[in-house]
Amino acid sequence: MQIIKTIDELKAFKENNKSKTIGFVPTMGALHSGHLSLIDNAVSNNDIAIVSIFVNPTQFGENEDFDIYPRTHQKDIELCKSTGASAVFMPEIDVLYPNGLDNEVILTPPVDMANVFEGTIRENHFGGVLRVVLKLFNLISPTNAYFGRKDAQQLLIIKKMVNDLFLDINIIPCDIVRDKNNLALSSRNIYLDSASYEMALKIPNAINKAISLVSANILESKIIENTAMACLNGLEVDYCNVVDFNLKKIREIKKGDSLLLIAARVGKVRLLDNCWF
Ligand code: PAJ
Repeated sequence: MQIIKTIDELKAFKENNKSKTIGFVPTMGALHSGHLSLIDNAVSNNDIAIVSIFVNPTQFGENEDFDIYPRTHQKDIELCKSTGASAVFMPEIDVLYPNGLDNEVILTPPVDMANVFEGTIRENHFGGVLRVVLKLFNLISPTNAYFGRKDAQQLLIIKKMVNDLFLDINIIPCDIVRDKNNLALSSRNIYLDSASYEMALKIPNAINKAISLVSANILESKIIENTAMACLNGLEVDYCNVVDFNLKKIREIKKGDSLLLIAARVGKVRLLDNCWF
């Protein structure tokens, strides 16, 4: 497995792998089994798989955890090797932002999708995500790019960018990987002590309740949201809403075009979960 740090090295790698299908998995590192499932998927379904590890400054707000975001490069490299990835692209900031962060053409995602849910709490977050993902797409030219359903809003906004800008890349959504008690894996789960972990399990319970309602053909959003909210009793819920794939709130679930999005805080730890119907 090759470790690539510069754009010249990346170009040389691509030159040596011309006409192969490329599966690409963008990450910020601190890899866990959720990330690894994306990489497995990329390895299995493409000639070569490239993982990027880059903690992207433009998607963090001023009061967010950019400086203390876990950086576990050596362990991440070993994990990527074990999955059979062909290369890891881990550039420094000035490689991806050679003109600085404030002097570039930038993309603005549509307000209706980017300034709701996560976007109300994290101003400019999705603009920063699109900025780096488009740079990575342009540098890597993947055939298929893999994103977790865990970050549903991010996945839907990236799909929209690919569609709006006619990018010739297939976006492959990957299912949420959960621990043995069904809690969605996240790098933030390590901050949960045992009492807050137990509380956090209310989130997957709420998701499961919603799934059983929908399986019983109970599709009214209010009923699903209220039932999920009742399961989340005791947590500080930022949102618990049924939406369509444009992130618009809807009255009723339409199978194949609906999501339940949940963000809730357990003490200081903020957790996201969702399910796609
Ligand atoms: P990061 O948080 O490292 O996540 C990388 C990818 O892993 C995302 O597509 C995310 O949805 C997926 N992922 C995380 N937890 C998962 C889980 N439990 N199950 C399945 N997939 C999971 O998302 C980012 O990085 C960044 O915003 C990035 C796209 C790399 C741009 O900087």
